[in-house]
Amino acid sequence: MKLGRNDPCWCGSGKKLKKCHGTVSDQGEVMRPPRNVQVLKGQDLDKMKAACRLAANVLDETCRRVAPGVNTGQIDQWVHEMTLDAGAYPSTLNYPKSPTDPRLPRIAPGAFPKSCCTSINHVVCHGIPKETDVLKNGDIVNIDVTVTLDGFFGDTSRTVYVGTPSIDAQKVVEAARKSLELGIQAVQPNGRLIAVGQAIYEYASNLGMGVVREYTGHGIGRVFHAEPQVCHYPSHDSDCILVPGMTFTIEPMINLGTWRTKLDNEDGWTVYTLDGKLSAQFEHTITVTDQGAEILTIPG
Ligand code: MF3
Ligand code: CO
Ligand code: CO
Repeated sequence: MKLGRNDPCWCGSGKKLKKCHGTVSDQGEVMRPPRNVQVLKGQDLDKMKAACRLAANVLDETCRRVAPGVNTGQIDQWVHEMTLDAGAYPSTLNYPKSPTDPRLPRIAPGAFPKSCCTSINHVVCHGIPKETDVLKNGDIVNIDVTVTLDGFFGDTSRTVYVGTPSIDAQKVVEAARKSLELGIQAVQPNGRLIAVGQAIYEYASNLGMGVVREYTGHGIGRVFHAEPQVCHYPSHDSDCILVPGMTFTIEPMINLGTWRTKLDNEDGWTVYTLDGKLSAQFEHTITVTDQGAEILTIPG
């Protein structure tokens, strides 16, 4: 059924479409809930919650163990073991290829080789854990954990201080933490996805910080990276209506300097800030409810 601009809005508000969710996009289409997004209900939502809780618990326990002298290879081992012990698979291992036998170190060429991402200081995201990366006092490190449990993906990350943080480290880490919080608060049933990016961008850019654009949040559920693309700045191209049950991540990467990044052309994964300044990130998987957002990646 095609709705006219003066018809009642599909969202049930009783308002006319043009006064509610009938905003015409740049392409001249009426905004609708997107297709191909993960809208989870009932048993599927319960399984999703279990996957997300596990990811949060693994991340929580791992973060507790971070201290000067720990290397990121150890962090990877902890995540790997805790995930397997819970009967789950560490989703980044061999990504984007199919899960490998986690006991065999056979990784497809070009695939991500480890069970989590560890991104230190000026690494924005997708840092590869390694024994030679030893954390020292004053570093910041983002640990990003994704697990697959019973067919569902849970994805969450935090940036933690190693020992005593510098003023700059505190500035960027607290800005990233707050950015995620504001992004989550912007989620409203029958609201717009663009509100998430607007809230984050306004807050972080007012502090003079860079908001990364090349890497985004994503729909998640039975697949790791699904629609919609969740931009942390206002993007009309990836805007859509938010409907209860839609499940996606919000994961702002906030830089102390420029928002621009560069990819490591040797390993093909590690993303750095272009100016070498610090970057921090926090990530939650959330689902849209009748009230707003429910954070699924809470330990418990
Ligand atoms: N967990 C990351 C995210 O938040 C994705 C990591 S994919 C990898 O989407 F291959 F880099 F591990
Ligand atoms: Co993610
Ligand atoms: Co992640």
